[in-house]
Amino acid sequence: MRIQLKLLFLCSLAAVFATTLAAAPLRPTHAPHAIVASVHELSSRVGVEMMQSGGNAVDAAVATGFALAVVHPQAGNIGGGGFLLLRTATGETHFIDFREKAPAAATENMYLDAQGNVIPDLSVIGYKSIGVPGSVAGLVYAERKYGKLSLEKVIAPAIKLAREGFSLAYEDAEDLKDEDLSKFAGSRRIFQRDGHFYQTGEILKQPELARTLERIGKNPDDLYHGALARELAAAIQKGGGLVTIEDLAHYEVKEREPIRGSYRGYDIISAPPPSSGGIALVEILNILEGFDLAKLGNRSAAAIHLVSEAFRRAFYDRADFLGDPDFARIPVPQLIDKKYAAAWRDSIDPSHASVSKDLKRPPFNELERVAQLSPRTLHEPENTTHYSVVDPEGNAVAVTTTLNDSFGSRVTADGLGFLLNDEMDDFASKQGVPNAYGLIQGPANAIGPGKRPLSAMTPTIVLKDGKLFLVLGSPGGPTIITTVANVLMGVVDFGLDLQEAVNAPRFHHQWLPDQIRVEERLSPDTMNLLRSKGHKLDVRHYWGDGECIMIDPKTGDRLGASDGRNNGKAVGY
Ligand code: DON
Repeated sequence: MRIQLKLLFLCSLAAVFATTLAAAPLRPTHAPHAIVASVHELSSRVGVEMMQSGGNAVDAAVATGFALAVVHPQAGNIGGGGFLLLRTATGETHFIDFREKAPAAATENMYLDAQGNVIPDLSVIGYKSIGVPGSVAGLVYAERKYGKLSLEKVIAPAIKLAREGFSLAYEDAEDLKDEDLSKFAGSRRIFQRDGHFYQTGEILKQPELARTLERIGKNPDDLYHGALARELAAAIQKGGGLVTIEDLAHYEVKEREPIRGSYRGYDIISAPPPSSGGIALVEILNILEGFDLAKLGNRSAAAIHLVSEAFRRAFYDRADFLGDPDFARIPVPQLIDKKYAAAWRDSIDPSHASVSKDLKRPPFNELERVAQLSPRTLHEPENTTHYSVVDPEGNAVAVTTTLNDSFGSRVTADGLGFLLNDEMDDFASKQGVPNAYGLIQGPANAIGPGKRPLSAMTPTIVLKDGKLFLVLGSPGGPTIITTVANVLMGVVDFGLDLQEAVNAPRFHHQWLPDQIRVEERLSPDTMNLLRSKGHKLDVRHYWGDGECIMIDPKTGDRLGASDGRNNGKAVGY
C-alpha cells in the first residue's frame, strides 16, 4: 500500500486509478449458504473450505486468519494482534480482545530523547517498537471455545500455503519492495530474496513460517510457554527489543462486552476499549441520527459537512478519554449516551465548519480532561486487514487484525519466519504529539507496562429487526472508524447496496489535523462547496479496504462486498 502511494509519483494518476477501478466489483457476490470476504482470494477460499467440511464461522475465521498470515504478510499475522467479534445464530455476542500488550520493561517516555522529544521511527521500525503479540493466543482461544473443528485442521491450509507458496499479485510484489524491510536481514532474505525482488506472478514460499505454523498446530501453547516462546523472546532481545519470555507467559486474551448502540432502528454491536472504534462509531451515529441525511443526498456537500462535524467531535472525545480499560476509567456510558450526542449536535452549524481547536465539549459528568495539543508532521503508513464471515446457520464473525504498519516493525523473528508488530506506536509516545496516523492521544493512552495500546479497529455487526444484517470492518488506522460509518450510512441512510456503499468515495475527519480527508473521486463541485463552508480538504487517492457482508432480509442470501481498492475477494457457496 505504501509502495503503491510512492508509485503515484512515478505513474500517471489516471493509469493507476484505472487499474484500481478495473478490479472493483459493481455488485455484491451472492451466496445462498455461507461467505467469507477478505483481502485475498486464497484466504477467503480457505475459510469457505472449512465451512464446507463441517466447520462453523469461527473455524472459517480462524483458518482465514492463519492463511492471511501467509498470503498477506503486510497485515495478516501471527506476530500482531486484533479483535474478533462473534454473533452466534442464537443471538449471543462475544468480543475477543487479542490486542498486543506493552512489555513489562516499557516506560512512559521510552521513545523520547534526553530533551523530551520523540525519537523518529523508534516506535515504528525495529525491535523497540514490538509489543507482546496476541494473535495466536486469540485465534487459538476462539477456536477452542467457539469452533467445531480441531486447531490442526484449521491451521493446515496455512501451512500448505506457506510451504508450497502462492503466486504474488502485482500489488503484493510491489509492497514487498518496502525499503524498511531491507533493514532487517531475515525480512530481506525471506520477502526480498536478498535484493532479487519478487516479481508479479512469482511464487513466494515461506518454509520457516510453515514449520512455525506446524509447531503451533501441534502445541499452540508453545508460543507463550514453551520452546517457541524461548526462541521468540531470544530473537527479539538479541535485536534490542523488550519482549521477554515472561511477557509471553503473562499474555492474556480477554473477552469483553461489546459496545452497543442503535441508529435509525438498527442495532449496532461493535468494538469496546481498548479499541476506540465502537464508542466513536456509536457517538458519530448518535449525533447524526437527528439529521435527515437521506434528504440531503448521498455524498452531497451538505451531508458530508454534517457527517464530518460528527467525526470531528467523536475524535475529540477519543483523544481525551480513551485507552486500555484495564488501566484507565473510560466514561463509556456518557460517550455513547444519546442526550450527550444531542448536545454535541446542537453545536453543529449546518452552513459553516467548526474549528477543531475551539470545540467546547457539552457538559460532561465524568472527569473532564483538557488537552494541550499541537499537531506536527506525519508520515503515512498503512496496513491492517479486516475479514468477515457468515456461515450457513447464521453465525457471524468480524475480525480486524494488524501488525500496525505495513509489515509491522519490519522485523522477522529469527528462524521463525514471521513478522512482528510495531503496535507500540499506537500509544501516545508523548501526549499532544501525533502518532504515525496523526492521532493525538491523552493520558489514558500513555505507555505503561502490560498495557494495551488504544486501537481504532472496528469490527462491527449490525442487526435489522433483531436479525443479522451487516458484518463490517476495514483497515486504515483512524479512517477505519469513518470507513465503517460511511459504509453503514451508505446502506442505512442512502439505500445503497453493500457493494455500492463500499465503493462510494470516502471522507474522513479526525479532529486534528483540522481538515476533511476526501478521496479524489469525490466531485470537484462537492469539494468546492465544502471549501466554501470553511473546510480545508486533504485530497487523497484512496484508502481502506472494506471486506463486508450483508444478509438479504428477503432471501437470506449472503451478499459479500470486497473492496476494489485492494485485491480482496468475497467467496461463498
Ligand atoms: O489498531 C489500530 O488502530 C492501528 N494499529 C491500525 C493500523 C491500521 O489500520 C493501518 N492500516 N491501514
